[in-house]
Amino acid sequence: VILIVDFGAQYNQLIARRVREARVYSEVVPYDITPEAILAKNPKGIIFTGGPSSVHEPGAPECDPRIYELGIPILGICYGAQLMVEQLKGHTEGADIREYGKKALTINETSLLFKDIPNQSTCWMSHTNYIKEIPAGFTITATTETCPTGALECQKRKLYAVQFHPEVEHTQYGKEVLNNFVYDICGCQGLWTMENFAQEQIEAIKEQVGDRRVLCALSGGVDSSVAATLVYKAIGDKLTCIFVDHGLLRKDEGDQVETIFKNRFNMNFIRVNCEDRFLEKLAGVSDPEKKRKIIGEEFIRVFEEESSKLNDIDFLLQGTIYPDVIESGTKNAAVIKSHHNVGGLPDDVDFELIEPLRNLFKDEVRAVGEELGLDHDLVWRQPFPGPGLAIRIIGDVTKEKLNILKEADYVFRDEIAKADLNEKIWQYFAVLPGNRSVGVMGDERTYDYTIGLRAVTSVDGMTSDWARIPFDVLESISNRIVNEVKHVNRIVYDITSKPPSTIEWE
Ligand code: XMP
Repeated sequence: VILIVDFGAQYNQLIARRVREARVYSEVVPYDITPEAILAKNPKGIIFTGGPSSVHEPGAPECDPRIYELGIPILGICYGAQLMVEQLKGHTEGADIREYGKKALTINETSLLFKDIPNQSTCWMSHTNYIKEIPAGFTITATTETCPTGALECQKRKLYAVQFHPEVEHTQYGKEVLNNFVYDICGCQGLWTMENFAQEQIEAIKEQVGDRRVLCALSGGVDSSVAATLVYKAIGDKLTCIFVDHGLLRKDEGDQVETIFKNRFNMNFIRVNCEDRFLEKLAGVSDPEKKRKIIGEEFIRVFEEESSKLNDIDFLLQGTIYPDVIESGTKNAAVIKSHHNVGGLPDDVDFELIEPLRNLFKDEVRAVGEELGLDHDLVWRQPFPGPGLAIRIIGDVTKEKLNILKEADYVFRDEIAKADLNEKIWQYFAVLPGNRSVGVMGDERTYDYTIGLRAVTSVDGMTSDWARIPFDVLESISNRIVNEVKHVNRIVYDITSKPPSTIEWE
Protein backbone atom coordinates (compact mmCIF):
# COMPACT_ATOMS: atom_id res chain seq x y z
CA VAL A 1 0.00 0.00 0.00
CA ILE A 2 0.97 3.61 -0.66
CA LEU A 3 -0.43 6.07 1.88
CA ILE A 4 -1.61 9.45 0.65
CA VAL A 5 -1.31 11.89 3.56
CA ASP A 6 -4.02 14.49 2.99
CA PHE A 7 -3.24 18.14 3.67
CA GLY A 8 -6.57 19.30 2.25
CA ALA A 9 -5.75 19.41 -1.47
CA GLN A 10 -8.62 19.33 -3.91
CA TYR A 11 -6.50 16.77 -5.77
CA ASN A 12 -6.10 14.23 -2.93
CA GLN A 13 -8.43 11.65 -4.45
CA LEU A 14 -6.81 12.15 -7.82
CA ILE A 15 -3.40 11.19 -6.42
CA ALA A 16 -4.90 8.06 -4.88
CA ARG A 17 -6.46 7.16 -8.21
CA ARG A 18 -3.27 7.76 -10.18
CA VAL A 19 -1.42 5.37 -7.89
CA ARG A 20 -4.14 2.78 -8.35
CA GLU A 21 -3.97 3.23 -12.10
CA ALA A 22 -0.39 2.03 -11.70
CA ARG A 23 -2.01 -1.08 -10.14
CA VAL A 24 -0.74 -0.24 -6.68
CA TYR A 25 -3.23 -0.05 -3.82
CA SER A 26 -3.44 3.37 -2.15
CA GLU A 27 -5.28 4.87 0.79
CA VAL A 28 -5.95 8.48 1.80
CA VAL A 29 -5.15 9.16 5.48
CA PRO A 30 -5.45 12.40 7.52
CA TYR A 31 -2.35 14.53 8.02
CA ASP A 32 -2.30 14.02 11.80
CA ILE A 33 -1.82 10.25 11.47
CA THR A 34 0.74 8.97 13.98
CA PRO A 35 3.94 7.16 12.96
CA GLU A 36 2.61 4.12 14.84
CA ALA A 37 -0.59 4.11 12.79
CA ILE A 38 1.49 4.39 9.63
CA LEU A 39 3.68 1.45 10.62
CA ALA A 40 0.59 -0.61 11.38
CA LYS A 41 -0.44 -0.24 7.75
CA ASN A 42 3.01 -1.33 6.62
CA PRO A 43 3.16 0.99 3.58
CA LYS A 44 5.84 0.78 0.91
CA GLY A 45 5.69 4.53 0.39
CA ILE A 46 4.03 7.76 1.48
CA ILE A 47 2.86 10.72 -0.59
CA PHE A 48 2.16 14.11 0.98
CA THR A 49 -0.53 15.99 -0.95
CA GLY A 50 -0.70 19.69 -1.68
CA GLY A 51 -3.05 21.87 0.33
CA PRO A 52 -4.67 25.29 0.41
CA SER A 53 -2.66 26.64 3.35
CA SER A 54 0.73 28.29 3.53
CA VAL A 55 3.24 26.57 5.80
CA HIS A 56 3.76 29.91 7.57
CA GLU A 57 0.12 30.37 8.51
CA PRO A 58 -0.71 29.79 12.15
CA GLY A 59 -2.52 26.47 12.46
CA ALA A 60 -1.32 25.21 9.07
CA PRO A 61 -1.58 21.40 8.99
CA GLU A 62 1.63 19.62 9.96
CA CYS A 63 2.49 15.97 10.19
CA ASP A 64 4.44 14.32 12.97
CA PRO A 65 8.12 14.89 12.00
CA ARG A 66 9.01 11.40 13.27
CA ILE A 67 7.54 10.19 9.97
CA TYR A 68 10.78 11.23 8.24
CA GLU A 69 12.71 8.79 10.43
CA LEU A 70 10.66 5.69 9.57
CA GLY A 71 12.84 4.82 6.56
CA ILE A 72 9.74 4.69 4.32
CA PRO A 73 10.14 6.60 1.01
CA ILE A 74 8.20 9.88 1.00
CA LEU A 75 7.20 12.05 -1.93
CA GLY A 76 6.00 15.55 -1.01
CA ILE A 77 3.89 17.41 -3.57
CA CYS A 78 3.53 21.24 -3.51
CA TYR A 79 2.43 22.05 0.07
CA GLY A 80 3.72 18.61 1.05
CA ALA A 81 7.12 19.51 -0.44
CA GLN A 82 7.27 22.83 1.39
CA LEU A 83 6.25 21.28 4.66
CA MET A 84 9.00 18.66 4.32
CA VAL A 85 11.52 21.45 3.71
CA GLU A 86 10.37 23.50 6.71
CA GLN A 87 10.24 20.52 9.06
CA LEU A 88 13.75 19.45 8.02
CA LYS A 89 15.15 22.93 8.65
CA GLY A 90 15.24 24.32 5.16
CA HIS A 91 13.37 27.49 4.36
CA THR A 92 10.39 28.55 2.24
CA GLU A 93 9.27 32.07 1.52
CA GLY A 94 6.39 33.95 -0.13
CA ALA A 95 7.25 34.57 -3.80
CA ASP A 96 6.73 37.94 -5.49
CA ILE A 97 4.76 36.34 -8.26
CA ARG A 98 2.42 33.46 -7.83
CA GLU A 99 3.41 30.64 -10.15
CA TYR A 100 0.29 29.19 -11.71
CA GLY A 101 -0.33 27.05 -14.79
CA LYS A 102 1.88 25.26 -17.29
CA LYS A 103 5.62 25.86 -16.87
CA ALA A 104 8.75 24.55 -18.55
CA LEU A 105 10.51 22.09 -16.28
CA THR A 106 14.25 21.46 -16.54
CA ILE A 107 15.73 18.38 -14.95
CA ASN A 108 19.33 19.03 -13.99
CA GLU A 109 20.40 16.02 -11.94
CA THR A 110 19.93 12.32 -12.56
CA SER A 111 17.27 11.07 -10.24
CA LEU A 112 15.32 7.83 -9.95
CA LEU A 113 12.21 9.98 -9.76
CA PHE A 114 12.89 11.28 -13.28
CA LYS A 115 14.04 8.00 -14.82
CA ASP A 116 13.38 7.92 -18.59
CA ILE A 117 11.94 11.43 -18.58
CA PRO A 118 13.45 14.02 -20.98
CA ASN A 119 15.35 16.93 -19.45
CA GLN A 120 12.88 19.43 -20.87
CA SER A 121 9.14 19.05 -20.40
CA THR A 122 6.11 20.94 -19.10
CA CYS A 123 4.63 20.71 -15.64
CA TRP A 124 1.66 22.21 -13.79
CA MET A 125 2.38 24.64 -10.99
CA SER A 126 0.08 26.28 -8.47
CA HIS A 127 1.84 27.93 -5.54
CA THR A 128 2.71 31.24 -3.90
CA ASN A 129 5.46 30.16 -1.50
CA TYR A 130 8.67 28.81 -2.92
CA ILE A 131 11.54 26.78 -1.51
CA LYS A 132 14.40 29.17 -0.83
CA GLU A 133 16.86 27.01 1.10
CA ILE A 134 16.93 23.26 0.92
CA PRO A 135 17.58 21.16 4.03
CA ALA A 136 21.05 19.72 4.68
CA GLY A 137 21.75 16.56 2.69
CA PHE A 138 19.28 17.42 -0.12
CA THR A 139 20.04 18.23 -3.76
CA ILE A 140 17.97 20.19 -6.24
CA THR A 141 17.03 17.96 -9.17
CA ALA A 142 14.76 20.19 -11.27
CA THR A 143 13.92 23.87 -11.76
CA THR A 144 11.59 26.12 -13.70
CA GLU A 145 12.31 29.65 -14.87
CA THR A 146 10.61 31.23 -11.89
CA CYS A 147 11.07 28.47 -9.36
CA PRO A 148 14.68 27.69 -8.38
CA THR A 149 13.59 24.50 -6.61
CA GLY A 150 11.21 22.55 -8.84
CA ALA A 151 12.23 19.25 -7.26
CA LEU A 152 14.66 18.11 -4.57
CA GLU A 153 15.65 14.91 -2.89
CA CYS A 154 17.77 13.19 -0.29
CA GLN A 155 18.38 9.78 -1.77
CA LYS A 156 19.99 8.43 1.37
CA ARG A 157 16.90 9.13 3.46
CA LYS A 158 14.52 8.26 0.56
CA LEU A 159 12.89 11.69 0.78
CA TYR A 160 11.65 13.29 -2.45
CA ALA A 161 9.75 16.48 -3.09
CA VAL A 162 8.29 18.21 -6.13
CA GLN A 163 6.86 21.71 -6.29
CA PHE A 164 4.73 20.86 -9.34
CA HIS A 165 1.66 18.60 -9.48
CA PRO A 166 2.48 15.23 -11.10
CA GLU A 167 -1.12 14.03 -10.60
CA VAL A 168 -2.78 16.43 -13.06
CA GLU A 169 -3.01 15.79 -16.80
CA HIS A 170 -1.22 19.03 -17.64
CA THR A 171 2.05 17.74 -16.25
CA GLN A 172 3.49 16.07 -19.33
CA TYR A 173 5.36 13.26 -17.55
CA GLY A 174 3.35 13.32 -14.31
CA LYS A 175 2.26 9.72 -14.64
CA GLU A 176 5.88 8.64 -15.18
CA VAL A 177 7.02 10.57 -12.08
CA LEU A 178 4.42 8.81 -9.92
CA ASN A 179 5.19 5.44 -11.51
CA ASN A 180 8.92 5.92 -10.90
CA PHE A 181 8.16 6.71 -7.30
CA VAL A 182 5.94 3.70 -6.66
CA TYR A 183 7.90 1.13 -8.71
CA ASP A 184 11.54 2.19 -8.59
CA ILE A 185 11.76 4.04 -5.30
CA CYS A 186 9.15 2.17 -3.23
CA GLY A 187 9.57 -1.19 -4.96
CA CYS A 188 5.86 -1.84 -5.56
CA GLN A 189 4.98 -4.48 -8.13
CA GLY A 190 1.65 -3.43 -9.60
CA LEU A 191 -0.49 -6.42 -8.63
CA TRP A 192 -3.64 -4.48 -7.68
CA THR A 193 -6.13 -5.59 -10.34
CA MET A 194 -9.87 -5.98 -10.05
CA GLU A 195 -9.58 -9.65 -10.90
CA ASN A 196 -7.28 -10.19 -7.92
CA PHE A 197 -9.46 -7.96 -5.77
CA ALA A 198 -12.61 -9.94 -6.56
CA GLN A 199 -10.89 -13.26 -5.86
CA GLU A 200 -9.43 -12.06 -2.57
CA GLN A 201 -12.73 -10.57 -1.42
CA ILE A 202 -14.65 -13.73 -2.24
CA GLU A 203 -12.23 -15.75 -0.11
CA ALA A 204 -12.30 -13.18 2.69
CA ILE A 205 -16.11 -13.04 2.76
CA LYS A 206 -16.36 -16.85 2.84
CA GLU A 207 -14.02 -16.86 5.80
CA GLN A 208 -15.76 -14.01 7.63
CA VAL A 209 -19.33 -15.24 7.14
CA GLY A 210 -18.85 -18.98 7.48
CA ASP A 211 -22.27 -20.56 8.01
CA ARG A 212 -24.00 -17.39 9.03
CA ARG A 213 -26.46 -15.29 7.01
CA VAL A 214 -26.23 -11.93 5.26
CA LEU A 215 -28.98 -9.48 4.39
CA CYS A 216 -28.71 -6.89 1.64
CA ALA A 217 -30.87 -3.90 0.71
CA LEU A 218 -30.57 -4.05 -3.04
CA SER A 219 -31.55 -0.87 -4.87
CA GLY A 220 -30.54 -1.89 -8.37
CA GLY A 221 -27.91 0.85 -8.44
CA VAL A 222 -24.32 0.02 -9.39
CA ASP A 223 -22.85 -0.17 -5.89
CA SER A 224 -25.44 -2.36 -4.17
CA SER A 225 -25.67 -4.60 -7.25
CA VAL A 226 -21.93 -5.21 -7.40
CA ALA A 227 -21.72 -5.72 -3.63
CA ALA A 228 -24.57 -8.25 -3.72
CA THR A 229 -23.03 -10.15 -6.62
CA LEU A 230 -19.65 -10.34 -4.92
CA VAL A 231 -21.14 -11.69 -1.70
CA TYR A 232 -23.39 -14.05 -3.63
CA LYS A 233 -20.34 -15.55 -5.37
CA ALA A 234 -18.81 -16.09 -1.94
CA ILE A 235 -21.71 -17.53 0.04
CA GLY A 236 -24.54 -18.31 -2.41
CA ASP A 237 -27.93 -18.79 -0.78
CA LYS A 238 -26.77 -17.63 2.63
CA LEU A 239 -27.34 -14.15 1.14
CA THR A 240 -30.86 -12.70 1.04
CA CYS A 241 -31.62 -9.51 -0.89
CA ILE A 242 -34.57 -7.28 -0.16
CA PHE A 243 -35.51 -4.99 -3.00
CA VAL A 244 -37.86 -2.27 -1.80
CA ASP A 245 -39.60 -1.15 -4.99
CA HIS A 246 -41.04 2.23 -4.01
CA GLY A 247 -42.44 2.74 -7.51
CA LEU A 248 -40.21 5.77 -8.01
CA LEU A 249 -37.72 4.00 -10.26
CA ARG A 250 -37.58 4.60 -13.99
CA LYS A 251 -39.87 2.74 -16.37
CA ASP A 252 -39.37 -1.06 -16.25
CA GLU A 253 -36.38 -0.76 -13.94
CA GLY A 254 -37.86 -2.78 -11.10
CA ASP A 255 -38.54 -5.68 -13.48
CA GLN A 256 -35.00 -5.56 -14.85
CA VAL A 257 -33.56 -5.80 -11.35
CA GLU A 258 -35.77 -8.77 -10.61
CA THR A 259 -34.84 -10.50 -13.86
CA ILE A 260 -31.11 -10.20 -13.25
CA PHE A 261 -30.94 -11.14 -9.59
CA LYS A 262 -33.88 -13.47 -9.10
CA ASN A 263 -34.12 -15.22 -12.45
CA ARG A 264 -30.61 -15.17 -13.82
CA PHE A 265 -28.48 -15.35 -10.66
CA ASN A 266 -31.12 -17.29 -8.79
CA MET A 267 -30.52 -15.36 -5.57
CA ASN A 268 -32.78 -15.34 -2.53
CA PHE A 269 -34.54 -12.24 -3.70
CA ILE A 270 -37.52 -10.55 -2.09
CA ARG A 271 -39.20 -7.79 -4.06
CA VAL A 272 -41.54 -5.63 -2.01
CA ASN A 273 -43.89 -3.68 -4.25
CA CYS A 274 -45.04 -0.68 -2.27
CA GLU A 275 -45.71 2.10 -4.72
CA ASP A 276 -49.14 2.82 -3.26
CA ARG A 277 -47.78 3.04 0.24
CA PHE A 278 -45.15 5.60 -0.81
CA LEU A 279 -47.63 7.61 -2.90
CA GLU A 280 -50.00 7.78 0.04
CA LYS A 281 -47.29 9.09 2.31
CA LEU A 282 -46.24 11.63 -0.32
CA ALA A 283 -49.75 12.84 -1.14
CA GLY A 284 -50.00 16.63 -0.98
CA VAL A 285 -46.37 17.11 0.09
CA SER A 286 -44.47 19.57 -2.08
CA ASP A 287 -41.44 20.58 -0.01
CA PRO A 288 -38.37 18.83 -1.49
CA GLU A 289 -36.66 18.15 1.83
CA LYS A 290 -39.88 16.77 3.34
CA LYS A 291 -40.28 14.48 0.35
CA ARG A 292 -36.75 13.16 0.78
CA LYS A 293 -37.29 12.56 4.51
CA ILE A 294 -40.58 10.75 3.98
CA ILE A 295 -39.06 8.46 1.37
CA GLY A 296 -35.97 7.77 3.47
CA GLU A 297 -38.01 6.94 6.55
CA GLU A 298 -40.60 4.89 4.75
CA PHE A 299 -37.85 2.90 3.07
CA ILE A 300 -36.40 2.00 6.43
CA ARG A 301 -39.84 1.04 7.80
CA VAL A 302 -40.47 -1.33 4.89
CA PHE A 303 -37.00 -2.80 5.16
CA GLU A 304 -37.41 -3.37 8.90
CA GLU A 305 -40.80 -5.00 8.43
CA GLU A 306 -39.46 -7.36 5.81
CA SER A 307 -36.23 -8.20 7.56
CA SER A 308 -38.04 -8.93 10.84
CA LYS A 309 -39.74 -11.81 9.02
CA LEU A 310 -36.35 -13.43 8.46
CA ASN A 311 -34.52 -15.40 11.06
CA ASP A 312 -30.87 -15.67 11.98
CA ILE A 313 -29.49 -12.71 10.09
CA ASP A 314 -26.01 -11.81 11.34
CA PHE A 315 -24.67 -9.39 8.77
CA LEU A 316 -25.94 -6.43 6.81
CA LEU A 317 -24.30 -5.84 3.45
CA GLN A 318 -23.80 -2.25 2.33
CA GLY A 319 -22.54 -0.86 -0.96
CA THR A 320 -20.43 1.89 0.63
CA ILE A 321 -17.62 2.99 -1.70
CA TYR A 322 -14.37 4.82 -1.09
CA PRO A 323 -15.46 8.40 -1.88
CA ASP A 324 -18.26 7.96 0.75
CA VAL A 325 -15.63 6.89 3.25
CA ILE A 326 -13.29 9.80 2.52
CA GLU A 327 -16.09 12.36 2.35
CA SER A 328 -17.68 11.35 5.62
CA GLY A 329 -14.33 12.31 7.15
CA THR A 330 -14.72 15.97 6.15
CA LYS A 331 -17.15 17.84 8.30
CA ASN A 332 -17.18 21.33 6.87
CA ALA A 333 -19.18 20.94 3.65
CA ALA A 334 -22.48 22.85 3.65
CA VAL A 335 -25.60 20.75 3.30
CA ILE A 336 -27.19 21.78 0.03
CA LYS A 337 -29.57 18.83 -0.10
CA SER A 338 -29.93 16.03 2.37
CA HIS A 339 -28.64 13.24 0.14
CA HIS A 340 -30.40 10.22 1.31
CA ASN A 341 -29.18 6.98 -0.10
CA VAL A 342 -31.85 4.37 -0.10
CA GLY A 343 -29.93 1.71 1.69
CA GLY A 344 -28.66 4.07 4.39
CA LEU A 345 -29.94 2.63 7.63
CA PRO A 346 -30.14 3.94 11.20
CA ASP A 347 -27.21 3.42 13.56
CA ASP A 348 -29.04 1.17 16.00
CA VAL A 349 -29.39 -1.88 13.73
CA ASP A 350 -28.40 -5.08 15.31
CA PHE A 351 -26.21 -6.49 12.55
CA GLU A 352 -22.54 -6.54 11.82
CA LEU A 353 -21.76 -4.61 8.64
CA ILE A 354 -20.07 -6.03 5.56
CA GLU A 355 -18.83 -3.38 3.15
CA PRO A 356 -16.70 -5.17 0.55
CA LEU A 357 -16.43 -2.12 -1.74
CA ARG A 358 -15.43 0.44 0.88
CA ASN A 359 -11.92 0.76 -0.53
CA LEU A 360 -12.88 1.16 -4.18
CA PHE A 361 -13.46 4.13 -6.44
CA LYS A 362 -16.52 4.09 -8.68
CA ASP A 363 -14.65 3.04 -11.82
CA GLU A 364 -13.08 0.18 -9.87
CA VAL A 365 -16.51 -0.91 -8.63
CA ARG A 366 -17.66 -1.01 -12.26
CA ALA A 367 -14.62 -3.05 -13.26
CA VAL A 368 -15.38 -5.56 -10.47
CA GLY A 369 -18.99 -5.73 -11.69
CA GLU A 370 -17.88 -6.60 -15.21
CA GLU A 371 -15.36 -9.08 -13.80
CA LEU A 372 -18.24 -10.81 -11.99
CA GLY A 373 -20.33 -11.02 -15.16
CA LEU A 374 -22.94 -8.35 -14.38
CA ASP A 375 -24.67 -6.75 -17.38
CA HIS A 376 -22.77 -3.93 -19.03
CA ASP A 377 -25.89 -1.71 -18.92
CA LEU A 378 -26.30 -2.17 -15.22
CA VAL A 379 -22.63 -1.65 -14.43
CA TRP A 380 -22.54 1.57 -16.45
CA ARG A 381 -25.90 2.79 -15.21
CA GLN A 382 -25.94 6.54 -14.66
CA PRO A 383 -26.24 7.92 -11.12
CA PHE A 384 -29.79 7.84 -9.85
CA PRO A 385 -30.96 9.55 -6.65
CA GLY A 386 -32.25 7.40 -3.80
CA PRO A 387 -35.59 9.27 -3.63
CA GLY A 388 -35.98 8.52 -7.33
CA LEU A 389 -38.48 10.22 -9.58
CA ALA A 390 -40.18 11.89 -6.60
CA ILE A 391 -37.54 14.63 -6.69
CA ARG A 392 -37.90 14.99 -10.46
CA ILE A 393 -41.54 15.93 -10.06
CA ILE A 394 -41.57 19.44 -8.69
CA GLY A 395 -44.25 19.92 -6.08
CA ASP A 396 -46.57 17.13 -5.02
CA VAL A 397 -46.27 13.67 -6.49
CA THR A 398 -49.29 11.92 -7.97
CA LYS A 399 -49.68 8.67 -9.83
CA GLU A 400 -50.65 10.57 -12.99
CA LYS A 401 -47.53 12.75 -12.92
CA LEU A 402 -45.35 9.78 -12.11
CA ASN A 403 -46.60 7.88 -15.14
CA ILE A 404 -46.17 10.85 -17.46
CA LEU A 405 -42.62 11.35 -16.22
CA LYS A 406 -41.74 7.66 -16.61
CA GLU A 407 -42.92 7.63 -20.21
CA ALA A 408 -41.20 10.89 -21.15
CA ASP A 409 -37.97 9.80 -19.50
CA TYR A 410 -38.13 6.50 -21.34
CA VAL A 411 -38.39 8.23 -24.73
CA PHE A 412 -35.52 10.54 -23.81
CA ARG A 413 -33.29 7.61 -22.90
CA ASP A 414 -34.28 5.68 -25.99
CA GLU A 415 -33.34 8.57 -28.30
CA ILE A 416 -30.06 9.21 -26.51
CA ALA A 417 -29.15 5.55 -26.92
CA LYS A 418 -30.10 5.63 -30.61
CA ALA A 419 -27.86 8.66 -31.10
CA ASP A 420 -25.09 6.66 -29.41
CA LEU A 421 -24.67 9.32 -26.73
CA ASN A 422 -25.59 7.22 -23.69
CA GLU A 423 -22.05 6.66 -22.48
CA LYS A 424 -20.91 10.15 -23.44
CA ILE A 425 -23.32 12.06 -21.23
CA TRP A 426 -22.76 11.69 -17.51
CA GLN A 427 -26.40 11.89 -16.50
CA TYR A 428 -29.60 12.63 -18.42
CA PHE A 429 -33.22 12.51 -17.38
CA ALA A 430 -36.63 14.13 -17.72
CA VAL A 431 -38.18 16.42 -15.12
CA LEU A 432 -41.82 17.33 -14.61
CA PRO A 433 -41.97 20.91 -13.33
CA GLY A 434 -45.70 20.53 -12.69
CA ASN A 435 -46.90 23.64 -14.50
CA ARG A 436 -49.31 23.54 -17.43
CA SER A 437 -49.35 25.74 -20.47
CA VAL A 438 -51.46 26.31 -23.55
CA GLY A 439 -50.82 24.43 -26.78
CA VAL A 440 -52.63 23.41 -29.91
CA MET A 441 -52.98 19.91 -31.26
CA GLY A 442 -55.00 19.34 -34.44
CA ASP A 443 -57.63 22.04 -34.14
CA GLU A 444 -57.88 21.66 -30.40
CA ARG A 445 -56.57 23.90 -27.69
CA THR A 446 -54.63 21.93 -25.07
CA TYR A 447 -53.68 22.84 -21.54
CA ASP A 448 -51.04 20.33 -20.53
CA TYR A 449 -47.79 19.62 -18.74
CA THR A 450 -44.28 20.76 -19.61
CA ILE A 451 -41.37 18.31 -19.58
CA GLY A 452 -37.87 19.55 -18.81
CA LEU A 453 -34.89 17.70 -20.25
CA ARG A 454 -31.72 17.68 -18.17
CA ALA A 455 -28.42 16.29 -19.50
CA VAL A 456 -25.05 17.07 -17.96
CA THR A 457 -21.39 16.29 -18.30
CA SER A 458 -19.48 15.86 -15.06
CA VAL A 459 -16.69 13.90 -13.44
CA ASP A 460 -18.03 13.41 -9.95
CA GLY A 461 -21.36 15.23 -9.74
CA MET A 462 -19.85 18.04 -7.67
CA THR A 463 -19.79 20.41 -10.63
CA SER A 464 -21.32 19.92 -14.05
CA ASP A 465 -22.00 21.55 -17.38
CA TRP A 466 -25.04 21.06 -19.61
CA ALA A 467 -24.44 18.58 -22.39
CA ARG A 468 -24.33 19.94 -25.94
CA ILE A 469 -26.82 17.47 -27.41
CA PRO A 470 -27.10 18.10 -31.18
CA PHE A 471 -30.22 20.06 -32.13
CA ASP A 472 -31.55 17.32 -34.41
CA VAL A 473 -31.39 14.82 -31.55
CA LEU A 474 -33.23 17.28 -29.29
CA GLU A 475 -35.76 17.72 -32.04
CA SER A 476 -36.56 14.02 -32.29
CA ILE A 477 -36.77 13.71 -28.51
CA SER A 478 -39.18 16.62 -28.34
CA ASN A 479 -41.31 15.35 -31.24
CA ARG A 480 -41.55 11.88 -29.84
CA ILE A 481 -42.45 12.96 -26.31
CA VAL A 482 -45.28 15.30 -27.33
CA ASN A 483 -46.62 12.68 -29.72
CA GLU A 484 -46.24 9.60 -27.57
CA VAL A 485 -46.84 10.85 -24.05
CA LYS A 486 -50.36 12.02 -23.29
CA HIS A 487 -50.80 15.32 -21.43
CA VAL A 488 -47.46 16.78 -22.47
CA ASN A 489 -47.49 19.70 -24.92
CA ARG A 490 -44.20 21.49 -24.31
CA ILE A 491 -40.54 20.49 -23.96
CA VAL A 492 -37.76 22.69 -22.55
CA TYR A 493 -34.02 22.00 -22.33
CA ASP A 494 -32.15 23.00 -19.19
CA ILE A 495 -28.97 24.93 -20.09
CA THR A 496 -27.58 25.76 -16.66
CA SER A 497 -24.35 24.52 -15.20
CA LYS A 498 -23.74 23.49 -11.59
CA PRO A 499 -23.10 25.82 -9.84
CA PRO A 500 -25.30 27.87 -9.73
CA SER A 501 -27.91 25.17 -10.45
CA THR A 502 -27.78 21.65 -9.14
CA ILE A 503 -28.07 18.61 -11.37
CA GLU A 504 -31.46 17.55 -10.02
CA TRP A 505 -34.22 20.15 -9.84
CA GLU A 506 -35.02 19.39 -6.21
P1 XMP B 1 -27.28 17.53 -7.24
O1 XMP B 1 -28.72 17.62 -7.63
O2 XMP B 1 -27.05 17.79 -5.79
O3 XMP B 1 -26.86 16.03 -7.51
O4 XMP B 1 -26.40 18.37 -8.12
C1 XMP B 1 -25.55 15.55 -7.55
C2 XMP B 1 -25.62 14.06 -7.83
O5 XMP B 1 -26.21 13.37 -6.72
C3 XMP B 1 -27.38 12.70 -7.14
N1 XMP B 1 -28.36 12.86 -6.05
C4 XMP B 1 -28.64 11.93 -5.12
N2 XMP B 1 -28.14 10.69 -4.93
N3 XMP B 1 -29.53 10.40 -3.06
C5 XMP B 1 -28.60 9.93 -3.92
O6 XMP B 1 -28.18 8.79 -3.76
C6 XMP B 1 -30.09 11.64 -3.17
O7 XMP B 1 -30.92 12.04 -2.38
C7 XMP B 1 -29.60 12.43 -4.26
N4 XMP B 1 -29.89 13.71 -4.69
C8 XMP B 1 -29.12 13.93 -5.79
C9 XMP B 1 -27.82 13.37 -8.42
O8 XMP B 1 -28.59 12.49 -9.23
C10 XMP B 1 -26.48 13.73 -9.04
O9 XMP B 1 -25.89 12.60 -9.66
